[in-house]
Amino acid sequence: MCEVRVIYHSSRGHAEEAAQAVADTAGVSAQDITKPHVLPGADLLLIGAGLESGHEDRLLLDYLDHLPAGAFRGAAVFLSCFSGREAGELLFNVLQHKGIVVYPEICRLKVKRFRLHPHPDRKDLDKVCQWTSRVLADYTG
Ligand SMILES: Cc1cc2nc3c(=O)[nH]c(=O)nc-3n(C[C@H](O)[C@H](O)[C@H](O)COP(=O)(O)O)c2cc1C
Repeated sequence: MCEVRVIYHSSRGHAEEAAQAVADTAGVSAQDITKPHVLPGADLLLIGAGLESGHEDRLLLDYLDHLPAGAFRGAAVFLSCFSGREAGELLFNVLQHKGIVVYPEICRLKVKRFRLHPHPDRKDLDKVCQWTSRVLADYTG
């Protein structure tokens, strides 16, 4: 059986909502990294955040940098962002530096910039749930 943890950092609640959907799909609970917690090691770490001013979330990067080596075998990343086409490299680097195998497909939930549109919407949440199922199947299969 593949043991899974879901962690996130969310300034405006978007990545948090996505993380709840990811965690529901994986059958676990989602952990906000800014709240007191203990993160036990696992096979797979699912990681969510937003982007700000072209940067990946500094707090999240720092958190990942301090994970104990060997605590996680694999990881996968979901981002809530305007576009974030280039984003992800720093997260990948930090994780790979820890010896963690990173799932190559980042799930990007795109904010609709110029519309009064709830985000993430049902379509976004379906997308991140399907991505989670694919990640889990690939890690357990
Ligand atoms: C001040 C600010 C700067 C942002 N900068 C970027 C950016 O550079 N690239 C991007 O793709 N999205 C950017 N966004 C969009 C956020 O990543 C997006 O709103 C995301 O859903 C926030 O997630 P959160 O609510 O989980 O923090 C920015 C949003 C704000 C408010």
